[in-house]
Amino acid sequence: MYASLSQLAGTDDRRYRMVKVAIDNKTVEVPEGTTILNAARLLDIPIPTLCHHPKLTPFGGCRLCIVEINGMARPVTSCTTPVSEGMEVTTTSQYLEGLRRTILELILSDHPNDCMVCEKSGDCTLQDLAYSYGIRETRFEGQRRIYTERDGNPFIERELEKCIMCGRCVKVCDEVQGVGAIDFGYKGFNTKVCTPFEKDLSCEFCGQCVAVCPTGALTGKLWKQKGRQKDIKEIDTICPYCGCGCNITLHIRRNEVIRITSREDTINEGWLCVKGRFGYSFINS
Ligand code: SF4
Ligand code: SF4
Ligand code: SF4
Ligand code: FES
Repeated sequence: MYASLSQLAGTDDRRYRMVKVAIDNKTVEVPEGTTILNAARLLDIPIPTLCHHPKLTPFGGCRLCIVEINGMARPVTSCTTPVSEGMEVTTTSQYLEGLRRTILELILSDHPNDCMVCEKSGDCTLQDLAYSYGIRETRFEGQRRIYTERDGNPFIERELEKCIMCGRCVKVCDEVQGVGAIDFGYKGFNTKVCTPFEKDLSCEFCGQCVAVCPTGALTGKLWKQKGRQKDIKEIDTICPYCGCGCNITLHIRRNEVIRITSREDTINEGWLCVKGRFGYSFINS
């Protein structure tokens, strides 16, 4: 996932100092500035995450990645906390798992029970986590977000009831695509990911936001009800449109290309343009 130690430390400066840290009693030496989450991943220690994405700046929004540090009173988010020399970290305990479960229950208390018809089912991080933690029901009742108006743009289905406010779409649009077409709007319970003046999305339609969304809040309109992840066969190939030669993955169901994605470990790092991601109908014609 990380090409170099400096990338792991989040710096281009190669004069970084190495620090030793113990995570779940396993020791690793990493550059100063490395987050606890990245150090744990080097050790193959799994920590659940929702808002973290390796190509985006950490946000610390979902709190699922909390860990305990010896000597600190409260858990900290491992995706935003850098390691320091001699740090001793615990990533799992009854206490931490209880907190994570409560966080998930709170998220699900304002989330539609839609998995049966959701485009993302079978490829949804939230669904996977609910499964892992065995959450069938949530203890928390309360107000739920209901949005009656749908975005009329031609490519991206935005079902904001399923949005968990992870901020990945906002960050990818800003940090990777450099467009800034969306951002968080309003406050408190009314907070949502908005376009300016809540107009229909009008942007480059690169679909990077769809690619990084961990839930079914953002999906492609072109592949609505065409087939979910378990139904498809994936074939890796090269985008035919231009000389960049981006790597793409065709999602095929019954001899029809129903969706295109791109893998993160490719030359284009999973990012595509509107043509590569959405311009595939000619293949089926
Ligand atoms: S976004 Fe995920 S958890 Fe929510 S309804 Fe869709 S599949 Fe289920
Ligand atoms: S499709 Fe691309 S440009 Fe449009 S909102 Fe998503 S990331 Fe931004
Ligand atoms: S739309 Fe998806 S990526 Fe954007 S904040 Fe909501 S859940 Fe996260
Ligand atoms: S993954 Fe660390 S706070 Fe969300």
